[in-house]
Amino acid sequence: MFEHLYLSQSPNMVIHKMKMGFIPIVTCICFLAPIQHAHAPSATIADLSFKNMDFAMDLYRKISSFHDKNIFFSPLSISTSFAALLMASGGNTREEMLRGLNLEQLEQADQPELIPRLFQVLSENITQNGSLKLDQGMALFMSRQLEVQKMFEDQIKEFFNADIKSVDFGDTKGAIHLINEYVKRRTGDKVTEIISSLDSETKLMLINTIFFQGAWQMPFDANFTESTPFYIDNYSVVQVPMMFMEDKFYMMEDFQIGAKGLKLPYQEGVSMLILLPNKGVDYTVIDEEITAEKFLSWIKRLQKTKLEVHIPKFKMEQSYSLHNLLPEMGMASIFSNSANLTKLSKSSGLKVSEVLHKAVIEVDETGTTAAAATTIGITPYSLPRTFTVNKPFFFFIYHEDTNCMLFMGRVIDPTKN
Ligand SMILES: *[C@@H]1O[C@H](CO)[C@@H](O)[C@H](O)[C@H]1NC(C)=O
Ligand SMILES: *[C@@H]1O[C@H](CO)[C@@H](O)[C@H](O)[C@H]1NC(C)=O
Ligand SMILES: *[C@@H]1O[C@H](CO)[C@@H](O)[C@H](O)[C@H]1NC(C)=O
Ligand SMILES: *[C@@H]1O[C@H](CO)[C@@H](O)[C@H](O)[C@H]1NC(C)=O
Ligand SMILES: *[C@@H]1O[C@H](CO)[C@@H](O)[C@H](O)[C@H]1NC(C)=O
Repeated sequence: MFEHLYLSQSPNMVIHKMKMGFIPIVTCICFLAPIQHAHAPSATIADLSFKNMDFAMDLYRKISSFHDKNIFFSPLSISTSFAALLMASGGNTREEMLRGLNLEQLEQADQPELIPRLFQVLSENITQNGSLKLDQGMALFMSRQLEVQKMFEDQIKEFFNADIKSVDFGDTKGAIHLINEYVKRRTGDKVTEIISSLDSETKLMLINTIFFQGAWQMPFDANFTESTPFYIDNYSVVQVPMMFMEDKFYMMEDFQIGAKGLKLPYQEGVSMLILLPNKGVDYTVIDEEITAEKFLSWIKRLQKTKLEVHIPKFKMEQSYSLHNLLPEMGMASIFSNSANLTKLSKSSGLKVSEVLHKAVIEVDETGTTAAAATTIGITPYSLPRTFTVNKPFFFFIYHEDTNCMLFMGRVIDPTKN
């Protein structure tokens, strides 16, 4: 099902016909002199996380400006993909990407590998002891006619653990099959058809997929899950399986924007923050208010409170064609005939045709310590407050140590995935 020209939201996603081809560049491109940055006192992964988050919030607003449906993507995974493409690009294209990705300040002329190294360290920090399972995969599909620069190939393997696959795009059917089979294998059969059409002129395509199914620190008791109404708007109500738990939770209130936040910790140092607009506050108003700074202020303000929590179970699978969104965010060059991808290959006229991102999440009762049954017993003197998620809400899944935003999204209708 197509929601919009820019976004497709179905497992059997169809990719828009590409118009981009291989056109030799005849004009000489003037590029800006490298901007001199003040020597930042060695950047940290916390700096990188903040910059990635800021970029993610901009991307979120861009996506939400196109429709009023569910949204779900992985900021970390998207930033990582583009950092890989950054390694491929030079001149003007690189400058534009640095600006667009909000990584300009981390660029240091004397340390060309600082940015990819930071991404690598961040990724290692997040998955440090192997307990957090982020099923993440990135692959660059390249035309067979292109010769990859050895240095780029080495860097992308070393820093991003990504594959470069050689494809004969001229044989469209064969290429589609190869790409789909590859993605299917890499995702453990979770994504069976990522593309269904392809332009024979394609030279370069980047595909990135990520899955997450965390186990709650405090699992919900499935016995308490029951079907209740969820109010999409004034006119539409759906029935959803609503989970229930009573315990002490971290929550906060933002009176300024009119929303409450609830933290639900997963195991392995990752948490979900649910942001629920107050009664009468439209989620579209809050859409405009979400920034990296706001997010950090929310998690700082969390306080432990006894609560009755009601949260719907939901499952989401979203795909985004980023090559359609990024030009509107100031990154047009890499997709255009003026792309400078000389670090990837010496062939001229090369550009990126497609960048596809797909993220999947399932939120249910599961946790591994199933024995931790919660006590349901309300004492008359300490009636707990309730946190009932029965209307559109936002959620953020982040790594606590680094404040790295792993996923973000909004749920308008939990019955649509
Ligand atoms: C591409 O960028 C490199 C620097 O990375 C530069 O040397 C080269 O001249 C640029 N090519 C074009 C066509 O802009
Ligand atoms: C849920 O209900 C079933 C059947 O009544 C019971 O056997 C099970 O122990 C209950 N689970 C928990 C976690 O209380
Ligand atoms: C929904 O109903 C409330 C109160 O009845 C009203 O204030 C609000 O404007 C309505 N919203 C829409 C989108 O109709
Ligand atoms: C793994 O990481 C988590 C979260 O940081 C931590 O609580 C746990 O103790 C770590 N386990 C080991 C074996 O280091
Ligand atoms: C991960 O990063 C955080 C924040 O920079 C730091 O406190 C922590 O020690 C790091 N963990 C490891 C294992 O490097």
